[in-house]
Amino acid sequence: MARPVITSVLAVDQVIEGDCIDVMRTFPDRCIDCIFADPPYNLQLRGDLQRPDRSLVDAVDDAWDQFDGFPAYDAFTRSWLGEARRVLKDDGTLWVIGSYHNIFRVGAILQDLGFWILNDIIWVKSNPMPNFRGVRFTNAHETLIWCKKSRQQRRYTFNYQAMKVANDDRQMRSDWELPICTGGERIAPGGVKLHTTQKPEALLYRIILASTSPGDLILDPFFGTGTTGAVARRLGRRVLGIERDAGYAEAARQRIGAITPPAHAAAVRQTQSRRRQPRVAFGTLVAAGLVPVGAMLIFDRRRDVRATVCVDGSLMLDDGRSGSIHRLGAQLAGTSSCNGWEHWSLCAADGSLVPIESFRAAWRASRVRDVVADG
Ligand SMILES: C[S@@+](CC[C@H](N)C(=O)[O-])C[C@H]1O[C@@H](n2cnc3c(N)ncnc32)[C@H](O)[C@@H]1O
Repeated sequence: MARPVITSVLAVDQVIEGDCIDVMRTFPDRCIDCIFADPPYNLQLRGDLQRPDRSLVDAVDDAWDQFDGFPAYDAFTRSWLGEARRVLKDDGTLWVIGSYHNIFRVGAILQDLGFWILNDIIWVKSNPMPNFRGVRFTNAHETLIWCKKSRQQRRYTFNYQAMKVANDDRQMRSDWELPICTGGERIAPGGVKLHTTQKPEALLYRIILASTSPGDLILDPFFGTGTTGAVARRLGRRVLGIERDAGYAEAARQRIGAITPPAHAAAVRQTQSRRRQPRVAFGTLVAAGLVPVGAMLIFDRRRDVRATVCVDGSLMLDDGRSGSIHRLGAQLAGTSSCNGWEHWSLCAADGSLVPIESFRAAWRASRVRDVVADG
């Protein structure tokens, strides 16, 4: 990734060095599709933390995590969340991760600012650090808050079907058991951890897969080692990272630069919820010649109820009644409404019945092939 030049025009796919509040102030309104934020936790550790064998624990005691008490932390949180809300598109969503030290304060402030919580996700750590002093329970989870900009916001991205498929066809729940970042994924030049709170890529993978679409622009204002950027690039999304520490920012650039984005657009295509699939009118299939004008349709597989396909995509029954697949379907079913796609079949020359839904699916598949071929 190239070193950034901040201009009034938003430059994407960059790691910008600086304070995220100052940097976000240079962004236009409503330019970001999704924000993932892993802000300072304000852990307030006092003194060194030791294991029973007196070895030192590599705890989060970094300067970036120090605040002069709760009021200072709250003021900081209010400022960055305020800017985040301004730059988020009106159909965008925001994720914040935190621990018991900060997540309740963050949650209250984001509600005060008008955000509306969609879920809190519990990241259950399958390999947490023990409580070395044995004075409390092992702290084995972190909380993620996922929210939209306001209660009134109607549209936002949630790839429900993709998450279900990714979860062996079971609805994905709000408790995610994943290991903390260890092994080869951990950036540790010379065997020394570069960053105390590097997040696992598997966590960001779920977040990005669930709440963004290929090509979306994701902002991470507390970029650290660039985990969000690495996963965004793997999934064919664009990213903007802000990090005030030059060393972390450079490590993130190198990490992301080493990742090859998917070569084929089809690889990042994900299972779509029905309501998110592009709307297709029956007339479109007729105009495209997929359903021929004059073809015979059968209602609910009853061969005595037959309709002819007309040039404008309407149907005409043998008794002269006509209408759309939906309106005529409702009349035949004696109901106030009807999803015609589920009731009509085309009667093929050999007498077999082909549900019209299969023509719609074929049309949608051809559109995906076209998009892939174009880009
Ligand atoms: C909890 S860590 C994020 C770790 C990151 N998610 C990862 O996987 O590597 C928070 C990061 O925010 C940075 N930071 C703290 N305050 C900041 C600020 N005001 N503006 C920009 N970056 C900041 C810190 O230097 C630190 O790297």
